[in-house]
Amino acid sequence: LVNGELRQWNGEYAKVFSTISRTEDYSPTYLGEVPNLTAKEGLEALDSAVNAYNKGQGEWPTMKVSERIACMEKFVKGMKTRREKVVNWLMWEIGKSLPDSEKEFDRTVEYIVNTIEEYKNMDREGARFQKSEGIHAMVRRGPLGVVLCLGPYNYPINETFSLLIPAIIMGNTAILKPPKFGVLALSPLMEDFAASFPPGVINIVYGRGREVAGPIMLTGKVDVLALIGNSTSARALQDQHPNKNRLRMVFSLEAKNPAIILPDADLDLTIAECINGTLSFNGQRCTALKVVYVHESIADTFNKRFGEAIDAMKFGDPWEAGVKLTPLPEPDKPDYIEGLINDALSKGASVVNAKGGQKSVNYNFPAVVFPVKSDMRLFHEEQFGPVIPVIPFSDISEPLNDMAESNYGQQVSLFGKDAKTLGPLIDSLTNLVCRVNLNSSCQRGPDVFPFTGRKDSAAGTLSIHDGLRSFSIRTFVAAKDN
Ligand code: G3H
Repeated sequence: LVNGELRQWNGEYAKVFSTISRTEDYSPTYLGEVPNLTAKEGLEALDSAVNAYNKGQGEWPTMKVSERIACMEKFVKGMKTRREKVVNWLMWEIGKSLPDSEKEFDRTVEYIVNTIEEYKNMDREGARFQKSEGIHAMVRRGPLGVVLCLGPYNYPINETFSLLIPAIIMGNTAILKPPKFGVLALSPLMEDFAASFPPGVINIVYGRGREVAGPIMLTGKVDVLALIGNSTSARALQDQHPNKNRLRMVFSLEAKNPAIILPDADLDLTIAECINGTLSFNGQRCTALKVVYVHESIADTFNKRFGEAIDAMKFGDPWEAGVKLTPLPEPDKPDYIEGLINDALSKGASVVNAKGGQKSVNYNFPAVVFPVKSDMRLFHEEQFGPVIPVIPFSDISEPLNDMAESNYGQQVSLFGKDAKTLGPLIDSLTNLVCRVNLNSSCQRGPDVFPFTGRKDSAAGTLSIHDGLRSFSIRTFVAAKDN
């Protein structure tokens, strides 16, 4: 989608296969193909966004708030009619369960509707005059320019839109490059994009990041780099900008969110939350619990019950009722997970649960690995998949020190009952991460809450409220009282 036009492509295409059917028994189902565009098309999309922004003087950045909202409302109306198609692509391509795929779609619609409301409130607030020392001021928020958006494969619609929607509604123009996996889920919406927004406001280009996004960054014409995914891609793109001081970054990157289980924790609740936290969408969430610290006095009980509960989980196709574990979209993930487990085993750890580590070409049955130590890869690497390192501790300073030394700082889950212990601990933890979840697993939502992280985990903040602010700058008009 370039300059409002859905273009045909006569060059090379990348075939897209289903995650689900990538098994030993039958050859993977062919789902379709997407253009492998080159730098030339990427730069055409950039030009289109640059022209539509036109140094802040274009139709879109100068448009009345109510008119921009009308475009967004038209888009969301069209989007709602595509629910079944998008949900099907999510299940077939990335193996997301039916309830989670439906949730991803509905959450996105809700995100757009609520962002529109937030934008109206923000505009009403901004229109109020403030007065100080004889100066009347009207403080509002204005766009930043051209935004390059790259979303992740685990939420190809929802997280991509959590960047694109606030960017667009604030008056920026954008180039969007869909992720490598989950690339088809966006396709049912292409006509709605083309029909709802003026030419050049949203441009969508398929292809490899290095070939399409890299040359776009090299021009220095991107004002905001918005990326949810891995820090290697984020930093590589950021480094390609010739004038990094002028580039705003909005990133949500890796995390290694810990669960810390204190001796007095309610184990039924803790295990239920840890299952959800470590394994929803097979652990392929940046907010997933990726390491569990358990007090040594309850470690054996926890491991036994946690392992048994995991072994009772059902693996299957995303649309099967009760299925929580589904195939993994990244073809090399099963080998990677197996490598992490073998590394830990070779250094003295064990797999606690009977089914843990069973592997096929498209999945690994979740493995609980204990005791994990700092010389193991599982201690440091963001596994983003179904393997759970468990670390016993005797003193709370141990997990806190690990967190302080970690490169990440997104969230933590703290399980315990005694308010006198929890209170000071919460104060310490909020200085290490950005969200402390009490007796509950880590998550991004509800989307009204700020979503961010310290250190390498994030740059900028996302949410219905913060997204609009991350993609804009405060401006004001001042008039003297004369
Ligand atoms: O991949 C990271 C996502 O932001 C996780 O979002 O907590 O809503 O699953 P979630």
